[in-house]
Amino acid sequence: MIAQHLANRLLQALINSTQEGPALRREAMALLSELDGYNWCGIYRLEGDMLVLDEFVGEPTDHARIPVGRGVCGTAVAEGQNQVIEDVRELDNYLSCSVSTRSEIVVLIEKDGRILGQIDIDGHRVGAFDQSDEHLLEGIGRILADRWLVAA
Ligand code: SME
Repeated sequence: MIAQHLANRLLQALINSTQEGPALRREAMALLSELDGYNWCGIYRLEGDMLVLDEFVGEPTDHARIPVGRGVCGTAVAEGQNQVIEDVRELDNYLSCSVSTRSEIVVLIEKDGRILGQIDIDGHRVGAFDQSDEHLLEGIGRILADRWLVAA
């Protein structure tokens, strides 16, 4: 759950940023990591049928490469759908990055109908994320997609 004024402020900061490509993605993850409950904030780029870890803020993860179809991240791409997971302990296809993680949200980053990657946020509370978070991350995804700078 994110307050509208915080979401607006964050979107405006990214719109005003002079950065692009990886530097803009890093800035976005740094801003998100300041939000309450956003305990791990990262981006995966889609390269063929593999998700490759891009910029992130939080503990290093073993899951730097995730095949499409695996875990919450790979499921989002396989289904072409964002994922909002209340409690990761209820999943059988979950790839754990931290024993503290309870909830997760994955929002696809798309441009011209093509999936460029995704934003992945982990939270330590059950049910940390809802539609307000999904909406904010979709907005951020559009800004990042416009200044993506990675040729596929
Ligand atoms: N939990 C994800 C893996 C990425 S980590 O959360 C950073 C998944 O199940 O795909």
